Amino acid sequence: MPVISFANPKGGAGKTTSALLLAGELAAKGARVAIIDADPERWISQWAKLPGKPDNVEIIGDVTEDSIVDHIDKAARTAQFVIVDLEGTASLMVANAIGMSDLVLIPTQGASMDAKGAAKTIRLIRNQERMARRSISHAILLTRTSAAIASRALRNVRDQLDKAGIEVLDTSIVERAAFRDLFDFGGLLTDLSTDQVSNVEKARDNARAFAGEVIAKLKAGGLAAKVA
Ligand SMILES: Nc1ncnc2c1ncn2[C@@H]1O[C@H](COP(=O)(O)OP(=O)(O)OP(=O)(O)O)[C@@H](O)[C@H]1O
Ligand SMILES: [Mg+2]
Repeated sequence: MPVISFANPKGGAGKTTSALLLAGELAAKGARVAIIDADPERWISQWAKLPGKPDNVEIIGDVTEDSIVDHIDKAARTAQFVIVDLEGTASLMVANAIGMSDLVLIPTQGASMDAKGAAKTIRLIRNQERMARRSISHAILLTRTSAAIASRALRNVRDQLDKAGIEVLDTSIVERAAFRDLFDFGGLLTDLSTDQVSNVEKARDNARAFAGEVIAKLKAGGLAAKVA
């Protein structure tokens, strides 16, 4: 049931990559996952055409601002998790998807801290909350962080967001070749060979920690479907 959307009007913030990582981890645990591919570049639909897409992952493409609410509603009836990969704009489609979400994750590049994009998304969420008279759980997901250095800049970013009362997930998505290679080779992180791709193990640990934190957050909100 829970609907998890990835939103940030900033292009290249890591929405598609993080969405696929979460979907892959949930699918590896045996959950039925539906991915709504609302990214005009259709990266996830293309990934699904490569070998290795698990049978328990369904991709729903060709969504429009008019149809996205229907698509999410329908997917949420059958899938255990619905993951929505949104376009990099602040459109009506994005607002509609946010309005249908149980959790909105806001991927934000840790290095450049695209605060404007994140702030815009939070405004969209607050508007949707007022319109629907309910709260919509959301958090920043720092992406493309450096594996080597826990930089002071990144700590500053976390502090600033903390002060502003904006939740940031403890796990950030590290810059890893494996996360890019998924889109070239298809399948899940477990399918990538350690000979072909560097640091696959670390990438897997990172994705597992990320999914674990998301599941814990959903559970805390009484929203998680049972996953093995
Ligand atoms: N953690 C990561 N490690 C390595 N490369 C990454 C990572 N996250 C994103 N990238 C790369 O950065 C680029 C942008 O990422 P992605 O497509 O996930 O962003 P997006 O927010 O979905 O972009 P758009 O707004 O265009 O839809 C891609 O080339 C992707 O492979
Ligand atoms: Mg994208």
